[in-house]
Amino acid sequence: MSLSREQMLVEMGISPIWVVREKGGEPAPAVAPAPQSAGEAPPSAVVAVPQPAPLRESVAGPAAAVDAMNWPELTRAVAECKACPLCQQRKQAVLGVGDLNPDWLFIGEGPGADEDVQGEPFVGQAGKLLDNMLASLDISRGNKVYIGNAVKCRPPGNRTPEAAEMAACRPYLERQIALLKPKIIVLLGKAAVHSVLHDDKSLASLRGKRFEYAGIPVVVTYHPAYLLRNLPDKSKAWEDLLFARRLLNALATPELPF
Ligand code: URA
Repeated sequence: MSLSREQMLVEMGISPIWVVREKGGEPAPAVAPAPQSAGEAPPSAVVAVPQPAPLRESVAGPAAAVDAMNWPELTRAVAECKACPLCQQRKQAVLGVGDLNPDWLFIGEGPGADEDVQGEPFVGQAGKLLDNMLASLDISRGNKVYIGNAVKCRPPGNRTPEAAEMAACRPYLERQIALLKPKIIVLLGKAAVHSVLHDDKSLASLRGKRFEYAGIPVVVTYHPAYLLRNLPDKSKAWEDLLFARRLLNALATPELPF
């Protein structure tokens, strides 16, 4: 069954539909806006925020070797990886899915039970919501979108990955980003933020700001699984996606305010 865009927004719990200020909107303020509450206009500011430290503290063997891999080599290395204990209970490692020449890179936490079986990220309930979020933006997995995770192996019981596990996987994530060269990165939840930005502050304090990783704009939002449990925050996630889209559009037309 294919849903209309309006139905998808309803599915996301977002109503009324916001109109995106693509052009001719108010100039961005010089400082970051406070996080918006549901129902308020989406954030429109872009601020320079502290740059993340280089992601180089891996325990996954020589990061330099991963740094030199092409995509097939990376795929094989992840499939065979034994760098942390998560490999012991996985059915398979899950590298990611999507367009290898993406505009958008979405990064989640790690595979759950369904993903462990199917070998693809975000195929369970959270994945359905993510797909609806993408559809609301008129994009879809595989079409200018790549979806990956902070860790490639399922944490037992779907627990949050530990810092050492994320560090072990980080060279793979770094290499994915380097090879994919996305135009914008959206971090879904705290684990992704920890892995990419080395920041453990609350998501509420990080939303609505423009971060950068290797020159690529980065936006932070809530994880779809969290949104399934906290329905009112879906509208905030929608604000974040619109913010990301404005950043992406501004790359194409840098002279325009967003
Ligand atoms: N949650 C994630 O963070 N990633 C997945 O792939 C599935 C659920």
